[in-house]
Amino acid sequence: MEIIIQPTAEAATSVAARVIARLLNEKPNAVIGLATGSTPLLLYRALIDMKLDWSRVTTFNLDEYIGLPKEHPQSYYSFMWDNLFRHTNIAPENVHIPDGNAKDIPGFCAAYEQRIRDAGGIDLQVLGIGTDGHIGFNEPTSSLASRTRIKTLTPQTRQDNARFFASLDEVPTHCITMGIGTIMEARHNLMLAFGANKAHAIAEAVEGPITAINPASILQMHPDAKFCLDADAAGELKRADYYRWVYDNKPEWQHL
Ligand code: F6R
Repeated sequence: MEIIIQPTAEAATSVAARVIARLLNEKPNAVIGLATGSTPLLLYRALIDMKLDWSRVTTFNLDEYIGLPKEHPQSYYSFMWDNLFRHTNIAPENVHIPDGNAKDIPGFCAAYEQRIRDAGGIDLQVLGIGTDGHIGFNEPTSSLASRTRIKTLTPQTRQDNARFFASLDEVPTHCITMGIGTIMEARHNLMLAFGANKAHAIAEAVEGPITAINPASILQMHPDAKFCLDADAAGELKRADYYRWVYDNKPEWQHL
């Protein structure tokens, strides 16, 4: 794991944006996994400003609420088109977002996994983290080998996400999410976390035991996982000085 701590969310985002820009430069037909929520908003703005060529890029989103119409302002479909896709030259047929209104949810999930395989697998997966350590919507105790499937959101996650809805009652109770096994197959995982409310989940994920209670802790087993953190999200890391030292002393050729 590479733990990159920057003073601000903007600085941490700019490292992450450079990682993605470099990938698109090296592999214009890259397959990118994307996340929603408040964390990647700065990243999507930065990528839009970079005016990258998305014409050959394929994307797969991590998750979607079940039961919200696509056009609902809080559906992840609306989120992605409003905050990223419509500001790029991506081909709409290359965009994949789980269908939260699929009639046959298990069938849809199996087909989503197959589409990822058919696209050659995910080159880089963008991740955020829940205050309970979830990645995608893989809540605590999700199987670390899980695949794309239906999940029930925890009361904590519904409460955390209620800020986007008029009331807690409007937050859906179920979602479709890529599994932890699916996320672990991405060739590169890029986690972003900002703010003191993420500090505990990050400390457990990076320095705690690997456990399904903190799903993000499985990234300790990933061969190429980067964590781009602001100082607040890094606030409970015991070895923060060490991570800073490593980043400041990278050989020239490893610079991001
Ligand atoms: C959403 C997703 C979730 C969020 C997490 C953090 O696609 O994958 O794991 O990344 O809930 O959400 P924010 O960024 O709103 O704090």
